[in-house]
Amino acid sequence: MKDLLIRGRVLTFIEEPQGIDDTQSYLTVEDGAVLVRDGKIAAVGDYAEIRRTAGADVTIADHRPHLVLPGLIDTHLHFPQTQAIASYGAQLLEWLNTYIFVEEQKFAAPEHAGFVAGRFMDELIANGTTTAVAYCSVHPQSVDAYFAAAAERGMLMIGGKVMMDRNAPEALRDTPQQGYDETRRLIDKWHGRGRAQYAISPRFAITSTPAQMEMSRALVAEHPDCYVQTHLSENRDEIAFATSLFTAAKDYTDIYAHYGLLTERTLLGHCIYLSDREISVLAETGAVGVFCPTSNLFLGSGLFDRDRFDRLGARWSVATDVGAGTSFSMLETMAEAYKVLHLNGQRLSPLNSFYRMTLGNARVLGLQDKIGSLHAGADADIVILDSSAKPAMELRMRTATSLAEELFILQTMGDDRCVAETYVAGKAMKGRRIAARRELE
Ligand code: GUN
Ligand code: ZN
Repeated sequence: MKDLLIRGRVLTFIEEPQGIDDTQSYLTVEDGAVLVRDGKIAAVGDYAEIRRTAGADVTIADHRPHLVLPGLIDTHLHFPQTQAIASYGAQLLEWLNTYIFVEEQKFAAPEHAGFVAGRFMDELIANGTTTAVAYCSVHPQSVDAYFAAAAERGMLMIGGKVMMDRNAPEALRDTPQQGYDETRRLIDKWHGRGRAQYAISPRFAITSTPAQMEMSRALVAEHPDCYVQTHLSENRDEIAFATSLFTAAKDYTDIYAHYGLLTERTLLGHCIYLSDREISVLAETGAVGVFCPTSNLFLGSGLFDRDRFDRLGARWSVATDVGAGTSFSMLETMAEAYKVLHLNGQRLSPLNSFYRMTLGNARVLGLQDKIGSLHAGADADIVILDSSAKPAMELRMRTATSLAEELFILQTMGDDRCVAETYVAGKAMKGRRIAARRELE
């Protein structure tokens, strides 16, 4: 394959920004370029310089005046909930029972799982998201559909079969042994195949018996290189229910700690009502609290306390949580993150937002060598963002005087219309999506 030279305003983070003026935290090149060779980044820097070293036989994709950033990363969402976004009126437990546990039953059918998986991946790509960590349904065939759709597009995706053996409809329940066996088989089949990575996924303490939690412990111990994902402390009724089921635990977090589920590869959705003790346990174990602002507002769950995570030294990441989350767009997600933190008397700078969607989320996944920043040797997952994609944005951009201001406009007013192109392992994906749409019509 010919080398590809992507030209535009390069922006990539090096460190977590320590404020809105922290120009040391990122690299920006006004007339910049990223040289892509065999799906990887070969060089990043000044266009003229890279053009000289690239040789004659190179395809040039000129995206000026748009921004060239690493592909965005979403650390928590549910692929079988793609068609359940915008389900009206309920808080978490009622929402799960009324809508979600009905929707997820459809994924027993491989054709349905395959159809939604393809559309799900295309929606991520349209929003500039090149890596995501998703729950599949309880059915192994949903995991097959998910990873097959990701492989077809060359995406680095993380996911796993949900395990549930109580407090869910019979058609969505496995047993401790079945959950263990099916998870093992799926890990053997998918983990490390191409770019796929597996996440061991007991849904949450409410839907797993102690016996299933024991099986989850065994899976995590036997597969230390897999991720672990579950939900923690999202809603007050949920907390009361979960802790009533595990009366020996000190608190909700202690349930997962007791079963050995808190590791550096553990992603815990929501984490809204944690005590200092619980956040300190996350800090000690390296487990990550996942902030899902559109979901937390949509379900009326509550406000994530980012400052306490930072103060107690615990790691956190950002995510859409589709389908309680209302958008696939990480830009829209960060717009809501800003507002949630604001309501909580906290501030999120636009530099930190863009760090979080890229290098920050890559770091919590331990994938910072591969994704989340533009550097030689990294995978060529790249997004091109147009800060003036909508008329109102173009008008607002006329008054912008700094990069931080431009980024804030992008996140506050932007959505998938701002994604001019998404490259997955060096391949431009936008045209592919248009072709797929035409086929559907
Ligand atoms: N807790 C357990 N399952 C879910 C889910 O599917 N979505 C959300 N938002 N919270 C959960
Ligand atoms: Zn979730």
